Amino acid sequence: MANVLENILTTASALKKNVVLPEGEDARVVKAASLCAKEGLAKITLLGDPEQIAKANPDVDLTGVDVINPVTYEKTVEYATILFKAREGKINKKTGAPEYADVDAAIASILKDYTMYAALMLKAGDVDGLVSGACHSTANTLRPGLQVIKTAPGINTVSSCFVMVAPEGENKYNPDGVAVFGDCAINIEPDAQQIADIAISSAETARKIAGIQPRVAMLSFSTKGSGNDDKFFQTVPKMQKATALAKEQAPDLIVDGEFQFDAAVAPEVGKLKAPDSKVAGNANVFIFPNINAGNIGYKIAQRFGGYMALGPICQGFAKPINDLSRGCSVEDIKAVVAITALQAQ
Ligand SMILES: CC(C)(COP(=O)(O)OP(=O)(O)OC[C@H]1O[C@@H](n2cnc3c(N)ncnc32)[C@H](O)[C@@H]1OP(=O)(O)O)[C@@H](O)C(=O)NCCC(=O)NCCS
Repeated sequence: MANVLENILTTASALKKNVVLPEGEDARVVKAASLCAKEGLAKITLLGDPEQIAKANPDVDLTGVDVINPVTYEKTVEYATILFKAREGKINKKTGAPEYADVDAAIASILKDYTMYAALMLKAGDVDGLVSGACHSTANTLRPGLQVIKTAPGINTVSSCFVMVAPEGENKYNPDGVAVFGDCAINIEPDAQQIADIAISSAETARKIAGIQPRVAMLSFSTKGSGNDDKFFQTVPKMQKATALAKEQAPDLIVDGEFQFDAAVAPEVGKLKAPDSKVAGNANVFIFPNINAGNIGYKIAQRFGGYMALGPICQGFAKPINDLSRGCSVEDIKAVVAITALQAQ
């Protein structure tokens, strides 16, 4: 394996970013917080009642971790006010009533939802990044960010990608030893503009996290118009339109399509099918037409190809937020904290 993860951990340590972990009730999160502080990976803010955390984790040393109890913290009213103002006029889809009737309602809500509390700390600029999801669903982890952090300038879609690290040894089709696949986990059936956003964000992740110069391929079952599904799903015209939009919105980005996977990675096929393309035959960032293709694709690379999949890494937020898998280990949490620190640069 290329030492991508090692590089991420080393770079993060030098940045000293402050990452909030709202799940103080989870023993793995508490242990990871302790290790991040001890190893100098990041400054950690852990949410929860310090007494309860200490009682539940008697052997964990939290020296250097900033444990904040939202119930007593002096800034809770300030955070609730930020939430109330950010969501004023929004209607709760289930009840039909305003999401928050007043600041008191917002206070009551964030004291039940520490991920939202952490998102408000991030919005207020009191921390640099947020990592959650060890004991909450993806939807409940991302929704606070979608509602209050919103998207980065020029991007309208929060998406995700995997950094795929090649197994040891020469890899004819991936000389960098690392690739980026997006979006395999968040947007189910993205339209052309959303695909363009995913491409631009995935290129940014390729630079910041994978440490490669991105060459982005928009994937399809068709190469440069060789196939056509106009009568059925319109994915070929969608990927063609997405390619044009990405080129227009990020003129410096090396992006092209639509390509079949072999035309994107195999020089001999790329030359034959798209001789004038800078991307064909040597792509290292791969954008899938929908979550089905993306999710299946990264799992094939993982299981048949022996690739290590780092992620899903969230991208496109105005400030970094990442979702853990509920089966995560302490080491996984540390890696996601480091990735989040790099995104906060
Ligand atoms: C991402 C996800 C959680 C959002 O679901 P949701 O909370 O029901 O979203 P809503 O439609 O209610 O939108 C909430 C807000 O987020 C915004 N939003 C939703 N998806 C967004 C996206 N991809 N990018 C930017 N904004 C988005 C909406 O515009 C809305 O904003 P508003 O409330 O200010 O008007 C949902 O798309 C999802 O569950 N995706 C699949 C995730 C999954 O299960 N993956 C498998 C794990 S591998």
